[in-house]
Amino acid sequence: MNGVQVSWARQVAEEELRGVLPRRWAHSKGVAERAVDLAWVLGDDADLLASAAVLHDVGYAPRLAETGFHPLDGARYLRDVHGADDRLVRLVANHSFALLEAEERGLRAVLAAEFPLVAVVHHARPGTSAAALRTGVPAVAVPVTAEQSFQPNSVRTGGRWCGSNNTPVQTLDVPRKNIRVSHSRE
Ligand SMILES: [Fe+2]
Repeated sequence: MNGVQVSWARQVAEEELRGVLPRRWAHSKGVAERAVDLAWVLGDDADLLASAAVLHDVGYAPRLAETGFHPLDGARYLRDVHGADDRLVRLVANHSFALLEAEERGLRAVLAAEFPLVAVVHHARPGTSAAALRTGVPAVAVPVTAEQSFQPNSVRTGGRWCGSNNTPVQTLDVPRKNIRVSHSRE
């Protein structure tokens, strides 16, 4: 991490959130700290994730509310006002399975057109596994507990799973060597 993009991202997020939404700002800082823990996996993309983490909820800032859907409002702000990195704005736009909430708000087509979601990486908990399937894009499961290690198999038998041994990681925007995939039990 060289920290340049992260410093910029933190400054933008702080300006938009700290004064009007202090708890949201505290949350954003916490998420950014967790993102730093993943730097060893991401290599050159560590800055990207840390920046997206601290900015992910910037769209909650009242002055940025355009649609009222914060992932979309935040991503548009970063794209249109700051000319931010395309991958960064797509991470902000798609955080927390935003595509699914967008669907309920009648904004799925808008979000998908402006900020395409190409893949989902998740921890294979039952709820997240189901949500990943509903997005309709390739998913990579990275189980973190014994219970979760069973999820990839159960989901894969549903016929749409792209995790585990047949993960199409070439569709991701990060080098394959930087992706660690936990294999499910056969
Ligand atoms: Fe959010």
